Amino acid sequence: MTRVSLTWPGRARRRPAPASLSSYSEEAPVSLVRGDGAAVLGALASLGAQATLVYVDPPFFTGRVHRTNARSRRESGEREAFSDQWSDLGEYLEHVEALLVAAREVLAPEGSLVLHTDPRVGHYLRVLGDEVFGDGAFVSEIVWRYRRWPAKTRNFQRVHDLLLRFVRDPSATPRFHQRHEPLAASTAKTWGEGRQRALIVDGRRTRSTTTDEPSPGAPLGDVWEISIVAPSGHERTGFPTQKPLALLERLVDTLTDPGDLVVDPTMGSGTSLLAAWRLGRRAVGVDLGDVAHELTARRLERAGVPFTRVEST
Ligand SMILES: C[S@@+](CC[C@H](N)C(=O)[O-])C[C@H]1O[C@@H](n2cnc3c(N)ncnc32)[C@H](O)[C@@H]1O
Repeated sequence: MTRVSLTWPGRARRRPAPASLSSYSEEAPVSLVRGDGAAVLGALASLGAQATLVYVDPPFFTGRVHRTNARSRRESGEREAFSDQWSDLGEYLEHVEALLVAAREVLAPEGSLVLHTDPRVGHYLRVLGDEVFGDGAFVSEIVWRYRRWPAKTRNFQRVHDLLLRFVRDPSATPRFHQRHEPLAASTAKTWGEGRQRALIVDGRRTRSTTTDEPSPGAPLGDVWEISIVAPSGHERTGFPTQKPLALLERLVDTLTDPGDLVVDPTMGSGTSLLAAWRLGRRAVGVDLGDVAHELTARRLERAGVPFTRVEST
């Protein structure tokens, strides 16, 4: 297949040198590392770590400095959580590309990378992902649809993010657990709640019959309706771009097995780490920011999650 790549003036292939990790143990349930996500992924790969899921939720090229919100302001004042300001789109793409390249190295053959993005830059990241992961590696675009307070805009309300999933090795069987969602009301009305069985005549599907066995529901689709973290919800950490635990639990549950390793090189408030621990997976979280580390540590302590800090140089 013809390879298509993105180009922009002065495109540089940013490849941070792998960090060096002292005291990393692959047995640890949850490890926190302060540093550049790409450099730490490089270090994990050189130590032979094999992740089944790498979840990357980078800044979204908003041009803003994101500050902590009400929940953490009460506890430790308003502070800069992280900056999402770049000299131009090219610099931003180089930053994300470095994370993708390093993430690929740490993935097990049956592993997946999930890149969380939005519709303003998601199309660029999809092409970058195709470049880094190669033909056949892109397997799903999940639309995370949420409801939120309406914005003042002469446009349709933006109510979704994108989760782009790439597999490490398209020739390997990826880790994937089929899950189900409730049947559509119209399906249940027409066919009832019983499992459907297709009738095949001469190799062709002719019609379906309803069995006595209860239906598990419809296989989970790629549009997920999950609530955002409510401003006053108990889940709220005060981190400005915190993702819902239910979203991360669904990813971890469908794409990994108990005992597998989940790595999040841009962990923010540590949502993926908590999801991984609750589901019996091991996790490594990396972030450059002090606020991210502080809020993640507080969150894990409150949830009773044992974690280890790993030094990175
Ligand atoms: C969108 S937030 C992640 C939010 C997180 N998923 C959550 O649920 O709280 C992005 C995070 O990436 C971090 N970050 C950005 N670039 C990074 C890099 N190269 N290495 C490590 N962390 C990075 C920022 O400090 C910020 O905390």
